[in-house]
Amino acid sequence: MADTSLDGLFTPLTIGNVTLRNRFVMPAMQIGFTENCGPSPRTIDYLRGRSEGGAGLIFSESCAPDHPSGYWQAAFCVMNPETRGRWEALTEAIKGAGAAFAVQLWHPGGQRRPIEGFAHADAPTLSPSGLIQAEREGGRAMTAAEMDDLADAFVRAAEDAKAIGADGVELHCAHGYLMDQFLWAETNVREDGYGGPAIADRARYPLAVAAAIRQAVGPDFLVSLRFSQFKEVDYGARVFETPEELAEFGALAKAAGVSMLNVSSRRFGKPEWPEQDAALGIAGWAKRLTGLPVMTTGSIGLSTDIFADLFDGEDPGLRIAADLAELARRFNAGEFDMVGVGRMHIANADFVTKVREGRFDELRLYNKAVDLKHLMEQVVPGAVEEHRKTADV
Ligand SMILES: Cc1cc2nc3c(=O)[nH]c(=O)nc-3n(C[C@H](O)[C@H](O)[C@H](O)COP(=O)(O)O)c2cc1C
Repeated sequence: MADTSLDGLFTPLTIGNVTLRNRFVMPAMQIGFTENCGPSPRTIDYLRGRSEGGAGLIFSESCAPDHPSGYWQAAFCVMNPETRGRWEALTEAIKGAGAAFAVQLWHPGGQRRPIEGFAHADAPTLSPSGLIQAEREGGRAMTAAEMDDLADAFVRAAEDAKAIGADGVELHCAHGYLMDQFLWAETNVREDGYGGPAIADRARYPLAVAAAIRQAVGPDFLVSLRFSQFKEVDYGARVFETPEELAEFGALAKAAGVSMLNVSSRRFGKPEWPEQDAALGIAGWAKRLTGLPVMTTGSIGLSTDIFADLFDGEDPGLRIAADLAELARRFNAGEFDMVGVGRMHIANADFVTKVREGRFDELRLYNKAVDLKHLMEQVVPGAVEEHRKTADV
């Protein structure tokens, strides 16, 4: 019989120099409390609450390096000399309540839409090939010098994260933002060795940045890499057409010094290559093919995935018991090592404690209108509304 015990999810895990007290992770999520590109007292209270509520590891919301092309609007974080002290206070608050903490390093690439009058609004919007989807323009192709400059800015941000006491950083290579624009064949048609049909070429820049970060932060600091097959602009997109391409990427990521893979999917249990394995999800494939510690994410506890929810207005319902049983079955079978719980963590600061104590019926359903009210009010329109899907799969 399938092992659906949750006990294993409450065992510690050590990666490099950080030990997570359990396997539950709060993935990076903007919440709308950001002030002037950095954490506010409200951000600190909010994330301290998730640490007190039992999470093993918390990722910050996406945070750009201090590079002109990374500035967009005050609602989106940047690691710079002005915000650094606030990041430090946030780190202390989260770690003081028991969770490990890592800063997610992100760059919007061609998705950026500069806001007139905001810092660096005149700086060019940069992307690998001037595209955010086939035949859909976004930014202009980066020069080699710009790629070097931006890589340096990423390294400085990672060094800052280490200096303020964070346990790690995550390189956001998912969902159709800059690093994913490099990874995805549709948005990276460069002919300089950093793009084109081969995954090794498209991965060259993101993994060069990962390697430079590893070099700067030393061997034991957590360096997570987050990737997704899907994009916000195309649910059916694939970075990796085959398991062989994922295996090749994984080997290169390992060689670059990546210490864990955070695999973002719309539903954690969806089989990725069903013709080869009827059940294995993309996180399971990543673990099988790379051997790295792997985190799964996607609709845990909820019936509708984040993008249908955010962009298509499909409100989710609760699916706690069934999802936790499936999660445990897959975890106990060795498919993945950590689980990211997103929206249910927004709605329930003590999600992990309630699950541990079996108090499933006390978990509140996430409600976008209530839980994302501040985010919707704060983000200058245009950040989300232009997203569109091209295939619902
Ligand atoms: C409001 C909101 C903001 C998000 N912001 C980010 C982000 O900054 N970086 C990121 O990698 N993912 C972001 N995500 C995606 C989440 O990390 C997660 O992958 C997604 O919500 C799926 O998990 P869930 O189904 O458990 O909510 C965001 C999600 C939400 C709901």
